[in-house]
Amino acid sequence: MRIACIGRNGQTAQALAAVAARDASITLIQASGAEADLRDAASLARFVDAARPDVVVNTGAYNFVDRAETETELAFAINAEGPRVLARHCRTSGLPFIHMSTDCVFSGDKAGLYSEDDAPDPASAYGRSKLAGEQAVADEYPEAMTARVAWVFSEYAENFVTKMISFARTQPVLRVVNDQVGPPTYAPDIAAALIRIAREKVAGAPQFSGLMHIVSADAVVRSDMAVAIMDESRRQGGPFAPVEPLTTASFSAPAKRPLNARLSNAKAVARLGLAFTPFTEALKRTVAGVLARG
Ligand SMILES: NC(=O)c1ccc[n+]([C@@H]2O[C@H](COP(=O)([O-])OP(=O)(O)OC[C@H]3O[C@@H](n4cnc5c(N)ncnc54)[C@H](OP(=O)(O)O)[C@@H]3O)[C@@H](O)[C@H]2O)c1
Repeated sequence: MRIACIGRNGQTAQALAAVAARDASITLIQASGAEADLRDAASLARFVDAARPDVVVNTGAYNFVDRAETETELAFAINAEGPRVLARHCRTSGLPFIHMSTDCVFSGDKAGLYSEDDAPDPASAYGRSKLAGEQAVADEYPEAMTARVAWVFSEYAENFVTKMISFARTQPVLRVVNDQVGPPTYAPDIAAALIRIAREKVAGAPQFSGLMHIVSADAVVRSDMAVAIMDESRRQGGPFAPVEPLTTASFSAPAKRPLNARLSNAKAVARLGLAFTPFTEALKRTVAGVLARG
């Protein structure tokens, strides 16, 4: 299976490369944002056509949640218009297409788990840009699939774990919110799920279209996650700093984040039979990778 992947250095992109490197049945052709820019339709078409793929996966995105409040036009260009153009090109080329989105399409005001059937109501410019991308992909190419992920972490690229370890090297205390809860999801699990979906789509399975939540069933409070990261880092001989919990209201970040980012993965588990790496094990591997990187 030849997979053309927009994104090379991001977390999911690197996790896909690691899975593909271990599986001889997969040829992964990746493009960085400079090579296939979601703001440049011609570069996307050039990359996809040259890759001669069986399936296209878009891991590329504008992921600066706070900056999107002021760089809103740029966020919409990369997160909404780019995916629209890519979806259209895949449809007209007869190529299955998998896109990615986020828990931030929801406000987080719901008490329980969000399902794929819940109406989105984003509370940030980033969330609105990602929702516009989901809708653009669905409009252009109803057979495409959008995988929503949340709280992604791994030994690859920058994420909450790498940031906490990096801050602990220089800061005496880590101030982390204690009222946001979400599903910390290991990027290699997401990569494995995307490849499963890609295989189904290449085989022509019609039920792999629309939305699917690819998230762990774990639910962790942000400050507890920070404590777990620090404990694991110290256990492995890495930096440590105590965590000072505080409320989101007192943090005054530019963008509003969902207090409840918990998504139901029931659909993904039922259709793909996915097994997610338990949080403690995924964290152990992530911290080991981050510390080895230095
Ligand atoms: N990280 C999270 O916690 C999280 C949470 C919810 C949803 N998501 C979604 O999951 C997907 C994957 O995110 P991630 O965390 O793996 O990404 P990431 O680590 O933040 O990396 C961003 C990726 O986007 C690419 N990119 C940036 N600007 C681009 C442009 N103009 N054209 C093409 N590509 C561009 C980057 O390209 P290079 O390879 O050149 O660096 C990189 O591969 C995204 O749709 C994101 O919105 C992520």
